[in-house]
Amino acid sequence: MTRRFDFLVIGGGMAGISFALKAAKYGKVALLCKTTLDESNTTYAQGGIASVTYEPDSFDKHIEDTLIAGDGHCSLPAVEKVIKEAPTQIQELLNWGVDFDKDENGLFDLHREGGHSEHRILHHKDNTGYEIQESLIRQVKSHPEIEVYEHYFAIEILTQHHLGQIVTHHTPNIECYGAYVLNQQSNNIHTFLSKVTLLATGGIGSVYSTTTNPAIATGDGIAMVHRARGIIRDMEFVQFHPTGLYQPGVRPTYLITEAIRGYGAVLRCKDGKEFMQKYDERGSLAPRDIVARAIDNEMKIRGHQFVYLDVTHKNAEETKEHFPNIYKQCLESGIDITKDYIPVSPIQHYLCGGIVVDLNGQSSINRLYAAGECSCTGLHGANRLASNSLLEAIVYADAAVKDAVKYIDKLTFNESIPDWNDEGTSLPEEMVLITQSFREVEQIMSTYVGIVRSNLRLKRALNRLEILYRETEHLFERSVVSREICELRNVISVAYLIIKQALLRKESRGLHYTVDYPERMRNEI
Ligand code: FAD
Ligand code: SIN
Repeated sequence: MTRRFDFLVIGGGMAGISFALKAAKYGKVALLCKTTLDESNTTYAQGGIASVTYEPDSFDKHIEDTLIAGDGHCSLPAVEKVIKEAPTQIQELLNWGVDFDKDENGLFDLHREGGHSEHRILHHKDNTGYEIQESLIRQVKSHPEIEVYEHYFAIEILTQHHLGQIVTHHTPNIECYGAYVLNQQSNNIHTFLSKVTLLATGGIGSVYSTTTNPAIATGDGIAMVHRARGIIRDMEFVQFHPTGLYQPGVRPTYLITEAIRGYGAVLRCKDGKEFMQKYDERGSLAPRDIVARAIDNEMKIRGHQFVYLDVTHKNAEETKEHFPNIYKQCLESGIDITKDYIPVSPIQHYLCGGIVVDLNGQSSINRLYAAGECSCTGLHGANRLASNSLLEAIVYADAAVKDAVKYIDKLTFNESIPDWNDEGTSLPEEMVLITQSFREVEQIMSTYVGIVRSNLRLKRALNRLEILYRETEHLFERSVVSREICELRNVISVAYLIIKQALLRKESRGLHYTVDYPERMRNEI
């Protein structure tokens, strides 16, 4: 079956929904998500969204903090754009009904997180993402111009390749005409033709065995663009959050927000001693890459599985008021955070790289935009400043709509795209082939491509991955398409890109630290 929409949006988190709500003023929109709208990285966001709100904060300070965290690898125009447009986009969120906490004087209650020189994080308690996602879902579900497709899995974006042309990285003017999409309830594959497509498929956490991301985070958009010969960059900059709750076997890992350190919590070794001052004068509030590496080092030296986060010295009632969900979640695991230290360890959390886009959110493929975590705008550079990603998602979704509507009336649907061809395929005989390969990817990445890397580990990871790649492509060619086999292909592609790009970087910068090149070599900004 073929469906036609002016705008095809793949992804129903902050980036996808905010794009859809704005694009719907100019045409018909389809919004796809692979499970339900409430399952996204956006829903899990805790700390909040950064925006300059009151003096003495200023755009210059937020820009400087972002550049420092990004370790000389940010794109200055992207940084300036996002930070200066933040207040306007925050107003959009308020218009959509998002409720940010205020103090007793009616002013926004601003939190502070690692790497921020001022209090500038707008938040809703300690579950800001849930508040944002629920507000956006209410808007999108009642919109007459937006058709929401839950449990629809995008398999491939459509390009000239699907018209029989050979498309390489050197092909000029690759164009996107929509996507092949699997309806997971009927198992039919639909052709969604579009004039403009937005990829907003989120993160890649499922490539690692422990992550704060929900299971949907398999890097599908990045893998699709890679296969379509679009440009992907900065994949080596995988962010590990310093403080995931240490609970072996629990997936996703429950996050202990960085805002709790902004509030006064300190990191301690198992013997109770503070250690962050040894690594950075900003102590527990240093940027994330530094804190995560310091914890990793302390754990390795001492042979421990976790360190402690201590908030017991703060007023108990205030702690419960500010962090009610963390209080409740920890209590369920037998930890009363007002009295007990919280066991934490660094955990995969975010990807700074992804689909390269310009200041309009336009990818290297015509008619294809990307926004949110799957994109690489240059804002984060080598290390994302906390709470800048929700902001980036909404700013770039807005930019993409503004750019697309300039020319969408001149575009037509490409009616020559054939239906999906599944001739010669059959149901995979053994699902274990897929699930076991998935576990192997996670293990390879967690063992060899973590916080501290080396050429030897990266090369070993690449060799192991190549075997899985060959086996999976063979299986894919013969199998009826399923979400599971597609996700496996995608995590293999994402893992490959991370390793390849990590091997190319002959220095340590931001989130990429390698024992073979421990120094930062070039100053990029
Ligand atoms: P997501 O919100 O992840 O949405 C992705 C969507 O794409 C989903 O709807 C999914 O179903 C869909 N999708 C994916 N693949 C396909 C496919 N093949 N077919 C169809 N649909 C598909 N950032 C901050 O700025 N502040 C914070 O406080 C903060 N806290 C965080 C806490 C946690 C625990 C986590 C995990 C992240 C946090 N982040 C935070 C990061 C931030 O939440 C994400 O970067 C951001 O929400 C990403 O939004 P997105 O719209 O790009 O993707
Ligand atoms: C957190 O609340 O610590 C997460 C913030 C972020 O990832 O930006």
